[in-house]
Amino acid sequence: MVVAAKSEAASPVAEGARHPLDPLTAPEMEQAAALVRGRHTSRQLRVVSIALREPLKRDVLAFSPGDPIVRRAFVVAIDRADGKLYEGVANLATDRLESWVHQPGAQPSPTMDEYMDADRVIRADKGWRAAMKRRGVENLDLVQIDPWPAGNFGDPREQGHRILRGISYVRDEQASNGYARPVEGLVAVVDLNEQRVLHLVDEGNAPIPEADIRYDLESQQPVRDDLKPLDIVQSEGVSFTLEGHELSWQRWRMRVSHHPREGLVIHQVGYEDPASPASGDADARGELRSICYRMSLSEMVVPYGDNSPGQYWKNAFDSGEIGLGRTTNSLTLGCDCLGEIVYLDGLVAEPRDGTRTIENAICIHEEDFNVLWKHTNGANDGAAEVRRSRRLVVSSWATVGNYDYGFYWYFYEDGSIEHEIKLTGIIQTMAVGRGAPSGSAQMVAKNLAGPIHQHFFCVRMDMDIDGTKNTVQEVESRPLPPGPDNEHHNVFEAVVTPIRSERESGRKVHSPTARHWRIANPSRTNAVGEPVAYALFPGETADMMAGPESAVAKRAEFATKQLWVTREAPDELYAGGAYPSQTTGGDGIPSFVSAQRALERQDVVLWYVVGTTHIVRPEDFPVAPVHRSGFALRPWGFFDTNPGLDVAPSRMACGHLVGECTCDHGAHGNGAH
Ligand code: CO
Repeated sequence: MVVAAKSEAASPVAEGARHPLDPLTAPEMEQAAALVRGRHTSRQLRVVSIALREPLKRDVLAFSPGDPIVRRAFVVAIDRADGKLYEGVANLATDRLESWVHQPGAQPSPTMDEYMDADRVIRADKGWRAAMKRRGVENLDLVQIDPWPAGNFGDPREQGHRILRGISYVRDEQASNGYARPVEGLVAVVDLNEQRVLHLVDEGNAPIPEADIRYDLESQQPVRDDLKPLDIVQSEGVSFTLEGHELSWQRWRMRVSHHPREGLVIHQVGYEDPASPASGDADARGELRSICYRMSLSEMVVPYGDNSPGQYWKNAFDSGEIGLGRTTNSLTLGCDCLGEIVYLDGLVAEPRDGTRTIENAICIHEEDFNVLWKHTNGANDGAAEVRRSRRLVVSSWATVGNYDYGFYWYFYEDGSIEHEIKLTGIIQTMAVGRGAPSGSAQMVAKNLAGPIHQHFFCVRMDMDIDGTKNTVQEVESRPLPPGPDNEHHNVFEAVVTPIRSERESGRKVHSPTARHWRIANPSRTNAVGEPVAYALFPGETADMMAGPESAVAKRAEFATKQLWVTREAPDELYAGGAYPSQTTGGDGIPSFVSAQRALERQDVVLWYVVGTTHIVRPEDFPVAPVHRSGFALRPWGFFDTNPGLDVAPSRMACGHLVGECTCDHGAHGNGAH
């Protein structure tokens, strides 16, 4: 059944799975949870996540519609009675738990009910109540407590405990912006298993800032009233189709789903190439050429750069320690997404039982995006050829504490793919007493500063350029030394070097040589005899400022470089390790590349790190305007020519094609006849 593309929510869980990569349905998650609870009967067992156990890639690639599908669920749970983490695989076809294994030493990300427990435990703590009283805070009900992932700073009091760090904000009323009034230097470290405050940090004497600086609509009256409507109308509907989770638009094909940990995941991105007719294809639609098997945000981390007791430990791994899937927003038509929208829902397992549907978790729509290509031919009486660019947008949003992140994948008619991360929400704040803060924080309001910090996003892309056997190349532009080959001192050339093994992985950007990377298929050549390829062009990048001996550099080694390349392995999904909570480092990327596997003509996985350094500015408060950061994947000899040549010209308001119009628009206005 083709889901008619219209503005109504399309339910992804209405029917059983028709493809091996379809995410789990609610009954499947409940079946998996029941199998686990049948085996592990502790009443303190809490489900951290239940996700599809993806079949092996070779089995998915061999799948044809109608083939039998084996469905498996991967369950992560914690027994709060002893703090032990368990992993299980449930076979949903045979209704059997195939494995149930304790993972010693690992801490899963805290569950949502553990975050709520931390709030309750802190509020009940005598020491915390006394600290608030000392600061003159009367109404504790209005205090906002943000429990944070704890990290691991070697404090012997904390080793072996499952902890969160709670910080407090004072609000004048429920709708106030707590971040305007932080309680500086007060950090309650909560033991989640023992349900008590393990120790309380109470340092510094910065007063609580007084002003309730808000951003909600009520606080901003009157709002501007001088914008006329800008309507986005697609009178004949959208140009894409969504069949189950399979999305088709122009020549793009892909599978879109919501993952309980990663959030938005796109599988099997391919391009139907009419220039390369598929053999024996009667309707001559062209070969479906693979580009990427799986793309998602693997991990992210936000290290703060201030030394004060309330700040130095802030290093949230927003995916592995919190979860971008379970913090995914339900999107609203007309606000988050404008125009003709098709949504996909998300689904997450609840810790105690049941599931929670995140309605409208993924937004799919088209956008007019200015000019795809143009030329005005002066030698031909100024005849102009111009094509509008239309792009397909697949996006989702997550709110992680104070910050909000939008994850956008754009697909273009020239074969390009772009990933854009939108950063907005509220900055971390710190109260400042007399005097200006040092360079590691910026004043944003009276007695209120924003600590300097960085955001690192590691995007995992299992690239499959025309098949699974690819080679990654580093490309740099270099001037030739002066000499007979460079007598005019103008010569420079592109130097292409393969990344031969994981030993050479861990690459940094280098702007003087415009360093970037290509993913090539050496066994398939284009019309000029070179390997077909896609190129990865960096956007904003940042070097990690925290030193190599810092806790965050050890735990988030993936963020110390911009590009890592590994050999595809089904259990290597997370750049900071499967369970980064309270680790001391070594998991994830450093462990993967230590295998030093050869990479040429192999099934390669790219791990690209987008980094942004956020020196906070006054305009970032009380809510920060969206900051955009990302990268691009562009075809590099993947096609033999500009694949957007055959895009049809747009019609003008007068109905003529651009270039054909002889109407006198100046005289008649707006193209009216
Ligand atoms: Co920021």
